[in-house]
Amino acid sequence: MSNARILGTGGFLPARVVTNAELAQRVDTSDEWIVSRTGIRERRIAAPDESTCDLAEGAARQALDAAGCLATEIDLVIVATTTPDRVFPGTACLLQDRLGIHGPAAFDVQAVCSGFVYGLTIAEKFIRTGSAKRALVVGAETMSRIIDWQDRSTCVLFGDGAGAVVLGASDEPGILSSHLHADGAYKDLLTAKNTMTDSGCLLRAAGPVTMRGNEVFRMAVTTLDGLVGETLAASGLQQADIKWLVPHQANTRIIAATAKRLGLSMDQVIVTVDRHGNTSAASVPLAFDAGVRDGRIQRGDVVLMEAFGGGFTWGAVLLRY
Ligand code: ACO
Repeated sequence: MSNARILGTGGFLPARVVTNAELAQRVDTSDEWIVSRTGIRERRIAAPDESTCDLAEGAARQALDAAGCLATEIDLVIVATTTPDRVFPGTACLLQDRLGIHGPAAFDVQAVCSGFVYGLTIAEKFIRTGSAKRALVVGAETMSRIIDWQDRSTCVLFGDGAGAVVLGASDEPGILSSHLHADGAYKDLLTAKNTMTDSGCLLRAAGPVTMRGNEVFRMAVTTLDGLVGETLAASGLQQADIKWLVPHQANTRIIAATAKRLGLSMDQVIVTVDRHGNTSAASVPLAFDAGVRDGRIQRGDVVLMEAFGGGFTWGAVLLRY
């Protein structure tokens, strides 16, 4: 049994910045409302011809470079996305082709904001059991394509982007434990339904995101509270061993509540929601990459990643970087 260790990280954001002030020209909102409720100041929005695969490719190439790994050495490709470019084939197959990887398994994971944590956990199992040696795990989203831009309660929250890691077999410790959960009883609190014909057939995939924000907020805080406790108990580590929290970036108030539960100061939390908004499955790997690139997250540090999203799905990965 090998350990699965993060060998390199990458991130990619569309060039276009959309500020709160710009949104306030389109819908009845204000910078003050958005910042005080969510912490978001701006987000990136993909160009009309920029696909989820384009963003995934940018992040993947950076992660491969950082890992010192050739694309042809990758033997598993997982893309976590809620906004695939096609109904099929999966975005992982599109990405695989772009990167010139032919043959190894490639598939998408759909667990919305928890998708990257799900994908990383799956890749870790492949590596630990010897089914793969080097996995490329990407979270990539163009959430702007499934937002109702007239709905002020959701359009201010989301952004586009991609983050990636190369996970490799190693004798050194890497992923220490991971915990995944879901409860479909909450399917309607945060959803993007397909458009159906009167007779119940699929007319158009991915209708706009709808959300009962208050209820999602309450559930996120209580669920993440239980999740971090579960993760620590299973790992045998103490709160004090955690150097960095890399949370899903939905809302600074949810993030602050989780940090408090772990006894961490906000200086130990990687926060990108102010600049990226909620990029769904891309948010955790983008934040992780930001922390690695600016030198805060160092080799050997213990890092807790956690996420919560539609489904509901939620999960955590504890790792030594
Ligand atoms: N600008 C101004 N006013 C707004 C806006 C806006 N963009 N959006 C909603 N409002 C108004 C509402 O219409 C409402 O007005 P009313 O009192 O006249 O009816 C008022 O603000 C309060 O609305 P609430 O929904 O109660 O506002 P709340 O304080 O709960 O904040 C928010 C909303 C930010 C969405 C919060 O509930 C939240 O963060 N929830 C978590 C959901 C989340 O982050 N989801 C992302 C995906 S899931 C995940 O990633 C965890």
